[in-house]
Amino acid sequence: MADSASQLSVELLGEPAMLAFAADLAAVLEQALAEQTRHGAVAQAAIIALQGNLGVGKTTLSRGILHGLGHSGAVKSPTYTLVELYQLALGTVCHFDFYRLMDPEELEYMGFRDYLVDARLCLIEWPERGRGFLPDPDITIDIIQAGEGRMLTLQAGSSAGGQILLALNQGYGQLK
Ligand SMILES: Nc1ncnc2c1ncn2[C@@H]1O[C@H](COP(=O)(O)OP(=O)(O)OP(=O)(O)O)[C@@H](O)[C@H]1O
Ligand SMILES: [Mg+2]
Repeated sequence: MADSASQLSVELLGEPAMLAFAADLAAVLEQALAEQTRHGAVAQAAIIALQGNLGVGKTTLSRGILHGLGHSGAVKSPTYTLVELYQLALGTVCHFDFYRLMDPEELEYMGFRDYLVDARLCLIEWPERGRGFLPDPDITIDIIQAGEGRMLTLQAGSSAGGQILLALNQGYGQLK
């Protein structure tokens, strides 16, 4: 039996459906990261890249993931601050938005590598603007408009990512 999946697609109509999916993703993610930690030292944060046009739902999905991971307050879009940090049960979660980066090299100046080492999970909006300085994400999520709703395509970029998609697939979408 396969123990990972490379891709998963799901159509979500409305913000509540988006937040419910985010909660499921958070639950699977939390379990997978805890499992990893049990198996020894983790060198760097897991990375989830969130791609899609302006206003398509990247921050909404991030907010749902953060709430699912136990954050109870507001989730501010990191568009202006570049990064917002959350201290949660699983460790530090960094929520980045690279929209305003002029050059991927700015990530070097801001100490992006240190965030990666210190955090357990990074959620990154507009990852394409950090190209060259961003390691391969464990999961890339593409969000596109689909009528009144959104179509999400999740792509695994590591074996950990693949295991997470396989676990998620039990409730959602088409697996490839
Ligand atoms: N599945 C969905 N179906 C319909 N509407 C949705 C869905 N998910 C989110 N939305 C709505 O889409 C909008 C998304 O805004 P959001 O700030 O999350 O976008 P974003 O991708 O982070 O934008 P930006 O690129 O500016 O950071 C919100 O108004 C939200 O209610
Ligand atoms: Mg956003």
